[in-house]
Amino acid sequence: MSLEDRVKPHIAKLEPYQPGKRADEVERELGVRDAVKLTSNENPCGPSPHAIAAVQELAGSVDQYPDRSCRQLRGRLAEHAGVGPEQVIVGAGSDEIIELLAKVFLGQGDEMICPWPSFAMYKVAAQSAGAQLVRVALDDELVHDLDAMAAAVTERTRIVVVCNPNNPTGTSVGRDAFDRFAAALPDDVVLVVDEAYVEYVKREDCVDAVEWARRRPGTLALRTFSKLYGLAGLRVGYGIADADLCGWLERVRPPFGVTRLAEAAACAALDDHEHIERSLRVNEEGLRYLEREIAALGYRIWPSDASFVLVRVAPGMGDALMRLGVIVRSLDGFGLPDCVRVSVGSPEANERCVKALRHLREGGAASLR
Ligand SMILES: Cc1ncc(COP(=O)(O)O)c(C=O)c1O
Repeated sequence: MSLEDRVKPHIAKLEPYQPGKRADEVERELGVRDAVKLTSNENPCGPSPHAIAAVQELAGSVDQYPDRSCRQLRGRLAEHAGVGPEQVIVGAGSDEIIELLAKVFLGQGDEMICPWPSFAMYKVAAQSAGAQLVRVALDDELVHDLDAMAAAVTERTRIVVVCNPNNPTGTSVGRDAFDRFAAALPDDVVLVVDEAYVEYVKREDCVDAVEWARRRPGTLALRTFSKLYGLAGLRVGYGIADADLCGWLERVRPPFGVTRLAEAAACAALDDHEHIERSLRVNEEGLRYLEREIAALGYRIWPSDASFVLVRVAPGMGDALMRLGVIVRSLDGFGLPDCVRVSVGSPEANERCVKALRHLREGGAASLR
């Protein structure tokens, strides 16, 4: 029997997560110079200087295992969210917390509902657990169709995910619609609100998922240090939920997933208000620039509440942009083959992107130089 034959059938069917290409990879493979990476919604301002200092300070003690309970970080996060430390779960990125949810609640015959298109890891997590992922199409404006998601709930549903703002569309749902949806959800369904980009939301009626986590047992507000806080490479995410839910997730959490460096950097970044303000400002300016300039070229864009913008271009344009040294996320695998997702980058990277789009719009070949 081959190894493949011995792999669990639902794992054999799993498509691996495809990360965005790195700039050095594209430069090497395509022979382009100075490629800019606008694929993974990383913070163009980089990490907080306080986080860098915290990492440097601890570099000499990486022979020690981390604090398994992440007491310091959980305490700080609890203070910020106005909950007790037992209501905070941390993980090696919010990815890991999605995996923990699947481990605890999903098995053969169970269902997890999520919007579609949305973040690719929901599928990986549900399928790895042998469960069925029920994908509910976004509406015509590419916003969550919460009525359709509510209608998709069955007695097999264990988890419902709302991704707000949604990746890769940047669209968000408002408080009234969300509150109605959450209030009507059966009590025995775990509600996960993935808020990886919530800090960027400007709408006044922003959903308060932490408030829902405080009052609806089985609700988890999921956050990350990978985006606004610029710590994607260190892998720290967290969830706010009731103590019971956190306790179950904690049981299956690998003991030392969050490293000492990651914990210290996250604590430092959390209170670096100058870095936070600058990151928000750079994102806002970059987003407005990209929206304005790309729309002026005649491409359809969707209003974004996040750190990226969805652009309707044409099939194959992601590759054409890459050959021009501008790496964006092609969305073929997300049911949006004529769209790309452009992360907000530095002002120079954003300009490169607009220049490349203009070049292709004008029928230019795959070289700008
Ligand atoms: C919606 C969403 N959720 C979760 C994540 C995972 O973030 P991380 O594992 O880096 O915390 C991402 C990353 O891109 C995301 O876009």
